[in-house]
Amino acid sequence: MPVVTFRAAGADNCVRVADLPYVYVRTGAGGAVLPASCPHRGGPLNLAEVDPAGRRLVCPWHERGTSLARLRRQVPAVRSADTVTAVLPGPADAPVELCHLPLSPALDAGT
Ligand code: FES
Repeated sequence: MPVVTFRAAGADNCVRVADLPYVYVRTGAGGAVLPASCPHRGGPLNLAEVDPAGRRLVCPWHERGTSLARLRRQVPAVRSADTVTAVLPGPADAPVELCHLPLSPALDAGT
């Protein structure tokens, strides 16, 4: 499992492991590193909205809800100042790449 430190916001706010993107987001329930790819058909969860109850991300492609608690359990992570360190799914030698993904206002961690 790759352990990667990346920026919580701005440039390099996304890490791709074996081409799957992960981003740090902040919702009413606090910050977390989540997969940025929808489990339904790969839609951009980084652009999702949070449902009114604050429990699900609503994907912009087909508007299905995905449990925030379930997504949080997939990626143990800790934030320190402007960076976050996460233990990401995949083999330890999987290719890792930093990149940038925009976040919806509902998920934006700010600077
Ligand atoms: S791809 Fe996300 S709901 Fe379909």
